[in-house]
Amino acid sequence: MGSEVFYVTTPIYYPNDVPHIGHAYTTVATDVIARYRRLRGDETFFLTGTDEHGLKLQRAAEAQGVDPRTWVDRMEPRWREVWERLDVSNDDYIRTTEPRHEAAVSRLLLAVYENGRDDIYLGTYEGLYCVSCELYYAEDDLVDGNCPIHDRPVERMREENYFFRLSAYQDRLLEHYERNPDAVRPDIRRNEVLSLIKGGLQDFSVSRTSFDWGIPLPWDPKHVCYVWFDALTNYITAAGYGSDDGRFARTWPADVHFIGKDILRQHAVYWPAMLMAGGVEPPRQVWAHGYLLVGGEKMSKTKLTGIHPFELIDHFGVDSYRYYFLREVQFGQDGSFSWESMVDRHNADLANGLGNLASRVLAMIGSYFGGEVPEPGDPAAHAGRLPEVAVEVVRRLDQAMTGVAPTAGVAAIWDLVGEANRYLVQREPWAVSRNDGRRDELAGILYAAAETLRILAVLISPVMPRAAAALWSQLGVEELLPNQRLPDAAAWGGLRPGTPTARGEALFPRLEG
Ligand code: MSP
Repeated sequence: MGSEVFYVTTPIYYPNDVPHIGHAYTTVATDVIARYRRLRGDETFFLTGTDEHGLKLQRAAEAQGVDPRTWVDRMEPRWREVWERLDVSNDDYIRTTEPRHEAAVSRLLLAVYENGRDDIYLGTYEGLYCVSCELYYAEDDLVDGNCPIHDRPVERMREENYFFRLSAYQDRLLEHYERNPDAVRPDIRRNEVLSLIKGGLQDFSVSRTSFDWGIPLPWDPKHVCYVWFDALTNYITAAGYGSDDGRFARTWPADVHFIGKDILRQHAVYWPAMLMAGGVEPPRQVWAHGYLLVGGEKMSKTKLTGIHPFELIDHFGVDSYRYYFLREVQFGQDGSFSWESMVDRHNADLANGLGNLASRVLAMIGSYFGGEVPEPGDPAAHAGRLPEVAVEVVRRLDQAMTGVAPTAGVAAIWDLVGEANRYLVQREPWAVSRNDGRRDELAGILYAAAETLRILAVLISPVMPRAAAALWSQLGVEELLPNQRLPDAAAWGGLRPGTPTARGEALFPRLEG
């Protein structure tokens, strides 16, 4: 068994607020992995969207004096505009208020309800509920009486609910995770999930009667579906569950669900059990990254520490934004954002590193060869270690990106930038140019440098699509851009001598702090 499509998702976000850079962190990382997969020729399906039902949304709408649908219709574009501005290349965008989603949720609910094992049953729930998490907590989970994630008071709730028999799935979940050691990453999260499961699982309610902003249960419509059951199902809705069996078979199971570590339990315990109960395969992998911290705490709108992505994009540009978070925060660990470190990264790696390399090489080709890519001559004589380092970097990048280690992937690319800059310093083309007898050598050096830039443009394209396109056009080969596939696109010698190049604008202007 195995789906043909590389299917990757972000969480679907609550649109009751506007996005901050914590949300964008997940979405950009997912985008980079999706773009990389396309670059290596894998058929890819990348999904994101908004989670629009539930008590939290209903209350936010009430606070604004509008009905929930008006409210989500007003807020949802604020999310989409951020993804567009960040060059996020999602193939589909799901809103849980769409009819296609209601159909899929009803279908999964019924599949579980009618599976013959009584996995959904009627009971009464009384407990402590955090509306921000949309989760019940046990007394012991609270910190000073507050929700451990939001540090806000919980509410005592009692209502008649349908329950999902999660407790019956303990052994099957453990078996699933033993058979698939990579199904939760990184290891620290896998261990957390294993101990949650081993600690015993409690049934959770899958319906609510105290409010009505949700999808009605098909067999008892005075109940609406619990928002997490509704939300998780988005991943199969968009893959064609219940609506397009052929596409569903090609697309599901998802290859990677990217999430923050705050929603691990729902994705790695609830979700696979729900699917097993409904006769659907669990996802291949759940990848839970760390938090972006501000002042040592998880950035959050509730605590007024949220920074809107536009505040940074306006200053640094989209590419620099995308680069910074991947490079600076080891993927999987928590990381702190700071303006100073972002300026430093921008200037050191982008303006002085790649940007300066490109402008120096193109300027020399302009002055010494009338702007045309010179003849390579014998690479063994002129290209130094660049061709072999390029091959090695492409191998490391592939290993990192397919293994979901984007920080290591980006670092590998910058080893090639460093090698190219060192190579120029060693070969001193500016000095060679003063000697007419060394014209072939000068041509060979600048060809090698330009060819390295071409390869770099391919490699950076998933992370910095704009800079990649600008570099391709400066190298005079933009018409080739859409057809690049790794590893062939990185094979040495792709640039044709005689191609007219152009000195464009600086790729990354230097920034003052
Ligand atoms: N709607 C649910 C998810 C349903 S998925 C079936 C939800 N939404 S949310 O809007 O609160 O977004 C949570 C996600 O946003 C986190 O899992 C994480 O991906 C991202 N982040 C929110 N704050 C973050 C940080 N401070 N740091 C890193 N990621 C953060 O939960």
